[in-house]
Amino acid sequence: MAKVAFIGLGVMGFPMAGHLREKGGHDVTVYNRTASKAAEWAKKYGGQTGATPAEAAKDAEFVFTCVGNDDDLRSVTIADTGVLAGMKPGSILIDNTTASAEVARELEAAAKAKGVGFIDAPVSGGQAGAENGVLTVMCGGDPATFERARPVIDAYARMVGLMGPAGAGQLTKMMNQICIAGVVQGLAEAIHFGKQSGLDIENVIEVISKGAAGSWQMENRYKTMNAGKYDFGFAVDWMRKDLDIVLTEARRNGAKLPLTALVDQFYGDVQAMGGNRWDTSSLLARLDKK
Ligand SMILES: NC(=O)c1ccc[n+]([C@@H]2O[C@H](COP(=O)([O-])OP(=O)(O)OC[C@H]3O[C@@H](n4cnc5c(N)ncnc54)[C@H](OP(=O)(O)O)[C@@H]3O)[C@@H](O)[C@H]2O)c1
Repeated sequence: MAKVAFIGLGVMGFPMAGHLREKGGHDVTVYNRTASKAAEWAKKYGGQTGATPAEAAKDAEFVFTCVGNDDDLRSVTIADTGVLAGMKPGSILIDNTTASAEVARELEAAAKAKGVGFIDAPVSGGQAGAENGVLTVMCGGDPATFERARPVIDAYARMVGLMGPAGAGQLTKMMNQICIAGVVQGLAEAIHFGKQSGLDIENVIEVISKGAAGSWQMENRYKTMNAGKYDFGFAVDWMRKDLDIVLTEARRNGAKLPLTALVDQFYGDVQAMGGNRWDTSSLLARLDKK
């Protein structure tokens, strides 16, 4: 059992912190910007709350963050009341936010200056993965720090990998999002085509999902896509944030991402249709629009 702090109790963070308490058996202190959510978490799982990120992180051996984007992350880590103001030397900061590789390197340097270890640890698996404690966690950092953090991360993960130095976890998550963008657009086009052809989509997917075209997106999203239901899941606004991180990194490293850039524009169209909070599978809504 370790002393742990968790900052950011959103769709992902709330259940992840819950697994650290229930499955990991850790002593967990939480902080959330909207304090009522922290109180709700403490009531549900039986932990403590801190008034600021620094206060929640005081005395913790492991501090987790899971907020929105790079700037949100800076405000809960390196700002005056951020976790680094409260963390003790020898402790480890583990960031589960999907952010840039640049901010991961920046945080590792800021942590190092205080004798604190850092791991960037973005996740994949969505809300259901967080609730069931079966996320895939892509880590960046030094091996010794990773080996200490890994057993704690295990509480909410099915797969945890060290991908390289600080920032490598975020770069891996970028590859993950590039794959998703292409797969979802392909699936949306196939279902759109099938409908135009008058095929029974359920019947078709039942067959082709067992062949080379099968994917997580096909298995988990075809029913709702076929029903035109998108008011759940991983929001288009979040995907656009992630693709912006990817395309910025690609401009830096020279990678050619023509399909990803196109799908990013398609998600812009979905936002213009009012789909900011729709699931990423709503690329089909854009094609089906009369
Ligand atoms: N949802 C998914 O399926 C999914 C899957 C994989 C990865 N992710 C990534 O995981 C991260 C969190 O996603 P989520 O779905 O949990 O988001 P969310 O439900 O919107 O929660 C965001 C959390 O961050 C806090 N926050 C945001 N800005 C902040 C700031 N400036 N200062 C302090 N706290 C701040 C929010 O506090 P308040 O409660 O006060 O707003 C909330 O606790 C994102 O980077 C996302 O891309 C999400």
